Amino acid sequence: MKEGLLISDQRTQASYEIPIQDGTIRAMDLRQIKTAPDDFGLMSYDPAFMNTASCRSAITFIEGDKGILRYRGYPIETLAEKCSFLEVAYLILFGDLPTEPQLKEWVGQITHHTMLHETTKKFLEGFRYDAHPMGMLVSTVAALSTVYPEARHVQDPEIRRLQIMRLIGKMPTIAAYTYRHSLGYPYVYPDNELGYTGNFMNMLWKMAEPRYTANPALACALDILFILHADHEQNCSANVMRSVGSSRADPFLATAAAAAALSGPLHGGANEEVLKMLDEIGAKDKVPAYIEKVKAGQFKLMGFGHRIYKNYDPRARILKWAADRVFEVTGRNPKLDIALELERIALEDEYFIKRKLYPNVDFYSGIIYQAMGFKPEMFTVLFAIPRTAGWLAQWQEMVEDPEQKIARPRQVYIGHAVRDFVPLEKRSAAPAPVKA
Ligand code: CMC
Repeated sequence: MKEGLLISDQRTQASYEIPIQDGTIRAMDLRQIKTAPDDFGLMSYDPAFMNTASCRSAITFIEGDKGILRYRGYPIETLAEKCSFLEVAYLILFGDLPTEPQLKEWVGQITHHTMLHETTKKFLEGFRYDAHPMGMLVSTVAALSTVYPEARHVQDPEIRRLQIMRLIGKMPTIAAYTYRHSLGYPYVYPDNELGYTGNFMNMLWKMAEPRYTANPALACALDILFILHADHEQNCSANVMRSVGSSRADPFLATAAAAAALSGPLHGGANEEVLKMLDEIGAKDKVPAYIEKVKAGQFKLMGFGHRIYKNYDPRARILKWAADRVFEVTGRNPKLDIALELERIALEDEYFIKRKLYPNVDFYSGIIYQAMGFKPEMFTVLFAIPRTAGWLAQWQEMVEDPEQKIARPRQVYIGHAVRDFVPLEKRSAAPAPVKA
């Protein structure tokens, strides 16, 4: 069957046949639709990319209506159960699960790149005692660009691979340093004998003991959390990574930009907001009144809703399971009861049912992180560590895609037509806008 779209332009009575491929039309095919030879041609208008595919990608598959998430074809549930985070990072970045020797080499390479240059450590020391860890992370990742100037040669696959290893290796070190800085504790250097999450925990929590031993159940839970957060196709921060990377900026700067996008409360910053919300609600019996305020449009229920998922976020389901494992070690976080009550009431309420609003990944992750001993300000930093693998995979795919160019959307100009210039002494103030 021929796949095409017939368009009839009522302005000119002309008709056009536009090919359909993979359920999409090419926006550039609309340009031929003109009212006159000097007409620019038709564009599509899509604020917030509600219905625009910006790339062809083979990394992550999401079927939002069914609550399905797969990395490179493997269901997230299987990967969370059977793999380590670095195994999954390799899969996301290079397309296939590593063999045993490949994994050994990969883990060795990442471990080799965990150290920060001493000047970067000093850079971190310069932040105020109460600096938000996400601001510190974003700035420090950007600062790495000055330490590795060769990173700008983004067309060189070997140089790209080296920066990928550096970023994945150094992200937990930067994150741990931001945490120690906020507490006024001395920084702990990476320990190459430890695994990825075990070493991260060592850099976070080692005090005077000769060797820090992470609780294996908590290290395992953190590893699962990292797997769940590793990639999520074309979300806001992945789009920033691709967009900034499309100008051929180096991957440290592009990653810093992506992390900045992640920090917002509508994206990764939501996990911090969930905890604030649970604190504000305070008790299980206050939940119905809070839900009423959400329905009245006073604020959003943080950790609920998703642009793509119109069903239960599969990551939230695994997180609920992981929460129980963590609470066996740490004791139950009392906020879980408020969260469960919020979920129960929301899932039975017409407002949430009609809009297909379900808990997302940020709803339960904060409760787990808090039980592990993290302050809410650290939650988004914990999201950024594993998402770095996803950002880099998206960036690499973009750089290698011959169809990609510098990202540059169009606009519909709605401002003034040409105006006569008025000299300063003759200008009068414009009337204040009338409030609606
Ligand atoms: N609480 C109450 N109402 C909501 C919520 C919510 N959390 N989310 C969406 N709605 C309503 C929204 O008001 C709108 O209602 P109406 O049709 O009456 O105007 C309808 O549902 C559709 O929402 P939308 O804002 O058009 O949806 P969107 O796709 O633009 O936004 C979202 C998606 C995730 C930004 C949004 O659901 C939200 O702000 N959620 C809270 C923040 C949050 O948890 N973010 C984390 C997202 S998952 C992890 C990540 O990507 O980082």
